[in-house]
Amino acid sequence: MLLELRDIEKTFKDNQVLKGIDLTVEQGEVVAIIGPSGSGKTTLLRNINFLETANSGSMTFRDQNIDMARPSKEQILWTRRHMAMVFQNYNLFKNKTALENISEGLVFGQNMAKKEADSLAEIALDQVGLLDKKDFYPSQLSGGQQQRIGIARATVLNPDIILFDEPTSALDPELVGTVLRDMKQLAEQGQTMIVVTHQMSFARDVADRVMFFADGEILEQGDADEIFDHPKNDRTKQFLSAIAEDY
Ligand SMILES: Nc1ncnc2c1ncn2[C@@H]1O[C@H](COP(=O)(O)OP(=O)(O)O)[C@@H](O)[C@H]1O
Ligand SMILES: [Mg+2]
Repeated sequence: MLLELRDIEKTFKDNQVLKGIDLTVEQGEVVAIIGPSGSGKTTLLRNINFLETANSGSMTFRDQNIDMARPSKEQILWTRRHMAMVFQNYNLFKNKTALENISEGLVFGQNMAKKEADSLAEIALDQVGLLDKKDFYPSQLSGGQQQRIGIARATVLNPDIILFDEPTSALDPELVGTVLRDMKQLAEQGQTMIVVTHQMSFARDVADRVMFFADGEILEQGDADEIFDHPKNDRTKQFLSAIAEDY
């Protein structure tokens, strides 16, 4: 087991957004999380990475046991060194080039020499097919290219797990495929990932396990066939028929 969450709860004022999440991820596993908007999926990922602090619950990540409500500074830094996140809106630095966006986590997060960081960043850029764009600024790149740089920025850290938060939902439809291809390639290389997505065909095609998340809870999980072809929970059935996508 690479990652285990136990009973994670998160409340914003009087709004309980996470109602006791239990989740395990094995090494090399791709877990897709699907579910309606506003149900707490982003909040869950942000809690795993300590961009938010949970009210209660615990996490075991590799050999570390962490109280999610009271993580130490060292635990937060350690977690972020071994985990990366890819955001819905890319979150690239606008005043840094593609290459700098990727190398900067190595230089500042891992104290790597700039020259070494740049050469690793070039390898990561090459893997997403954008080495020729290394000196471009985000504003000079399409959304799809920006997100692929977001993916390269995650992979260059060689993380144990990558958390993806609806990585294609801000993209024009014709650019979605390029990003999904990079993600599929990562999955095939054995990268462990949790992917919040509305791309049901990607979930079916790539995920080892699919979780249906609604109202702050995981209501159902199983392999793609179970969730998409034989959902048991009425909320899952309702969600799948409402999106009425071909998956
Ligand atoms: N920083 C925050 N402060 C207050 N409420 C928040 C915050 N972040 C998320 N929420 C609330 O938590 C709920 C779940 O949001 P979110 O995790 O973004 O859902 P999803 O990603 O499934 O669409 C929403 O009601 C949202 O308004
Ligand atoms: Mg979200």
